[in-house]
Amino acid sequence: MKPIMKFKRYTVTAALPYANGPVHIGHLAGCYLPADIYVRYLRSKGEDVKFICGSDEHGVPITIKAKKEGITPQQVVDKYHKMMGDAFKEFGVSFDIYSRTSSKTHHETASDFFKKLYDKKVFVEEVTEQYFDEKANQFLADRYIVGTCPKCGNDNAYGDQCEKCGSTLNATDLINPKSALSGEKPVLKNTKNWFLPLDKMQPQIESYIDSHKEWKSNVFGQCKSWINSGLHPRAMTRDLDWGVKVPVEGAEGKVLYVWFDAPIGYISATKELTPDWELYWKDKETKLVHFIGKDNIVFHCIIFPAMLMAEGSYILPENVPANEFLNLEGDKISTSRNWAVWLHEYLIDFNDKQDVLRYTLCANAPESKDNDFTWKDFQAKNNNELVAILGNFVNRTLVLTHKYYEGKVPEALEYSKTDLLLLEEIVKYPAKIAASIEQYRFREALSELMNLARLGNKYLADNEPWTLIKTDEKRVQTIMNLSLQISANLTVLMEPFLPFTSVKLSNMLNLNKGLKWNDAIRTDLLLAGHVINTASLLFEKIEDDAIVAQVQKLENSKVMNEANTVATIEAAKPETSFDDFSKMDIRIGTILEAERVPKTDKLLKLLIDTGIDKRTVVSGIAAYYKPEDIIGQQVCILVNLAPRKIKGIESQGMILMAENSKGELSFVAATKETMNNGGAVK
Ligand code: MF3
Ligand code: ZN
Repeated sequence: MKPIMKFKRYTVTAALPYANGPVHIGHLAGCYLPADIYVRYLRSKGEDVKFICGSDEHGVPITIKAKKEGITPQQVVDKYHKMMGDAFKEFGVSFDIYSRTSSKTHHETASDFFKKLYDKKVFVEEVTEQYFDEKANQFLADRYIVGTCPKCGNDNAYGDQCEKCGSTLNATDLINPKSALSGEKPVLKNTKNWFLPLDKMQPQIESYIDSHKEWKSNVFGQCKSWINSGLHPRAMTRDLDWGVKVPVEGAEGKVLYVWFDAPIGYISATKELTPDWELYWKDKETKLVHFIGKDNIVFHCIIFPAMLMAEGSYILPENVPANEFLNLEGDKISTSRNWAVWLHEYLIDFNDKQDVLRYTLCANAPESKDNDFTWKDFQAKNNNELVAILGNFVNRTLVLTHKYYEGKVPEALEYSKTDLLLLEEIVKYPAKIAASIEQYRFREALSELMNLARLGNKYLADNEPWTLIKTDEKRVQTIMNLSLQISANLTVLMEPFLPFTSVKLSNMLNLNKGLKWNDAIRTDLLLAGHVINTASLLFEKIEDDAIVAQVQKLENSKVMNEANTVATIEAAKPETSFDDFSKMDIRIGTILEAERVPKTDKLLKLLIDTGIDKRTVVSGIAAYYKPEDIIGQQVCILVNLAPRKIKGIESQGMILMAENSKGELSFVAATKETMNNGGAVK
């Protein structure tokens, strides 16, 4: 066991999201919400903390997006940097700075960092064969190349990482590599790059990881398994043109690997935030904590610490509480399939209900395994927990205070035995919730918070001040005083999780601003005679139709996706000349007779009136049509196809079929009204 260390200050980072798309619930649940809860709690404890984030604006994800949208990478990052920053702000994610890696400070900081390692001769300079796309005339790094993962067989692994099994890869490890630009098989071409010799650093890295057995088991386990399978040198530069230029001679046309520059973004952002930035990165009494999603573990637990060790003057991450993934209605969240709940869209439909989403995502956070978000559960959590427990308790307390005492806090006269027991319970909550938060168990912390509200609710239900008021007014004063104190404590303890509601309740109670975590053990936050403000509901019931609409919206994306997927299953055949095409004589015909060809599953023997003659055609459509259903059906028929024998029957032509969006065959035909048999198709 390591000695418990008291830190003087905290540097808390949340993964810099790629500026290539809007923010969805998976981002929030996986990384930004737990980080925000942690930071708000620390601030409430009076700790010195800096909460750092920004947009990751380099790397292939950005340039690929630019290509797709037909705009420049700079336009992509400008658009999404703004959008993401706004979404975080709207959901109360309280970064001290939301910077971006295209900033001048960042380019300088990343460049200097590289230069320092270069001058210390940390890197191994090596000419290796890298994939090159001859059509696009460029090297293919990272996500520009896709292929089969050698470790798990996933067909869509990237050149630097397989998202399915989490392995870090080198592009040359991929089986059947293909260019993401042209789909072509790439060629190998020599190029020089600078490698971080993780193999040589393995003992140092291993003892660092081993000194952190307290890390979450998913994180520690992954690290150990990489180390046990042996670390390999990793290129820290790329032959690309979008990114931080490699600041050494002979590196024209090369940029820093995005996973080299991005984590340095945490440092650059801190520099932009405060002239004291070095305290937050170099002082041993600073606790550095990285909140990330599980696909980022190797970069934050092994590669970035290795960079920091090699540089020499920095502290190392003290903890990396990575979450697993959040699924949506049983399916993996996917930007390209539009299977997501986008924060900006949520706000349009659920105006001012940021805390409801924060609550649901925290209660369901994928802390130790992948988890599922469903709209039904969202509704249930709102209606059965926020409205029925927390909201109900607070609302009854405030409404009765207005009703009996014109909004003036009554005096607690004499505590009964139940009151004393209650008081004993209440004062335990700040420490209970704190212990869970400090161990990154945010779901547990939130459920303790709700237990406090439950306690209050039960206290009111058991004591029924609304009945007692007729017989024992004095007793009611004490009951209401206590209920008001619990409400005041709740504003403090809910703040990390439900910051908007905390402000709202605090305003209704007309509480002092600036209460701290440890104030929540007090039961005199509201003095007798203090006047509270008008009460309004903290939460409103969410009706079924709002939920049905959300589910329908997702169903729509599913339908759109299915249509798109099938349409792209088969690539088009090579092009054909007009002359070849016009050799085909296609006529309109009518099916006169149809019967199954014996001993086959697929074939029907058809007699077709082509207008010029009556012919027999054998067609492979038995899986789609019953013979009796197609008598009289109009079809297009190719009449000058050389006859051939199929199952002993001479087939004299071919009818044209087309695939519909579900991959089923259907007839290509003009309607009877417009065409007669024998009409030529042009
Ligand atoms: N942009 C990366 C992602 O979205 C995360 C970068 S985290 C940092 O997966 F450390 F590099 F900043
Ligand atoms: Zn894999």
